[in-house]
Amino acid sequence: MSIKIIGTGCGFPEKIVTNAELSRMVDTSDEWIVSRTGIKSRRVCREETLAQLCRDAAEKALAKAGLTAGDIDLIVCSTLNGDYITPSLSCSVAELLGAACPAFDINAACAGFIYALSVAEGFLLTGRYRNVLLISAEKMSKHVDWTDRSTCVLFGDGAAACVVVPGGALRYIKLTVKPDTSLLRIDCGNGNSPFAPPKKTGFLHMKGQDVFKFAVTNIDTNVKHAMDSLNLTPDDIDYFVFHQANKRIIDYARAKLGQPEEKMPLNIENTGNISSATIPILLDKMLDDGRLRPGKRLLMTAFGAGLTTGTCIMVWE
Ligand code: ACO
Repeated sequence: MSIKIIGTGCGFPEKIVTNAELSRMVDTSDEWIVSRTGIKSRRVCREETLAQLCRDAAEKALAKAGLTAGDIDLIVCSTLNGDYITPSLSCSVAELLGAACPAFDINAACAGFIYALSVAEGFLLTGRYRNVLLISAEKMSKHVDWTDRSTCVLFGDGAAACVVVPGGALRYIKLTVKPDTSLLRIDCGNGNSPFAPPKKTGFLHMKGQDVFKFAVTNIDTNVKHAMDSLNLTPDDIDYFVFHQANKRIIDYARAKLGQPEEKMPLNIENTGNISSATIPILLDKMLDDGRLRPGKRLLMTAFGAGLTTGTCIMVWE
């Protein structure tokens, strides 16, 4: 027994921020952002809470799965940070949905969706849970410094939900960490503790070129390992669904694999990097437009702060 996904949905804030709008805020241009990242616009929260985006995503996923909130046995959210430090985002979502089941968050940065799939698999394998609501949701707009052109242009906000149940779709999953907190992090402050040195909560700090190198090297290694484990070649994979951090990273991986563009779905153009939510947002899009059908073989891989990676292969059911 393994697992399968039987419903997906997304939730986005209303506000669209274009590259043109950003160029009026910081010294950048549409040309620079598009050529270096592939991003043209992103969604950014104003009044919306992250839990509200999750609720929108979850309601759509549950409707597609033919389930209601009362059917959920467990809620797992992958997020860098919910609306509160505590309670967890999952508890906020349970409250909005009217669900009464265990709920907790995990943080594996941009690889969070693959980590959460593995957590869901573990719970489902016990046989004591049947319907797991897995949500990846990020409000990156509260973590970036909007005066820093090297990071604020890269990210966006959004949520994607999946209903995960027992099945046979997941054929391979591997999680890794290469411990390194220097390349990509958000510093946590010390509050007003009189016992610790003053330290404010910081903004997202990233050594872009080093993260780029980590990403392309690890995508290459992880994709090869996944395919080798199941005796597959790139031609056996229908879609390579990669974390949408930067179109150049995906183009680089595609060239190394020698695969056509249509096998590397992209949606970074209108979303930016939404950390752990990028892969399930893309899955939802591919289901909606008919690309993702039963029997299609997907290889998903993501990398993020930590430095985490997660890779899996699914044959869609
Ligand atoms: N507009 C205009 N110029 C800019 C901007 C901007 N928005 N940002 C940086 N620049 C300038 C820099 O100041 C620098 O100028 P200089 O040459 O005068 O010093 C120049 O552009 C080049 O800067 P680099 O940082 O070298 O640009 P690079 O080509 O490496 O692109 C980028 C930067 C897009 C961040 C790239 O390194 C990258 O994509 N890295 C990976 C990032 C990533 O994947 N992050 C997410 C991973 S984990 C997660 O998802 C949270």
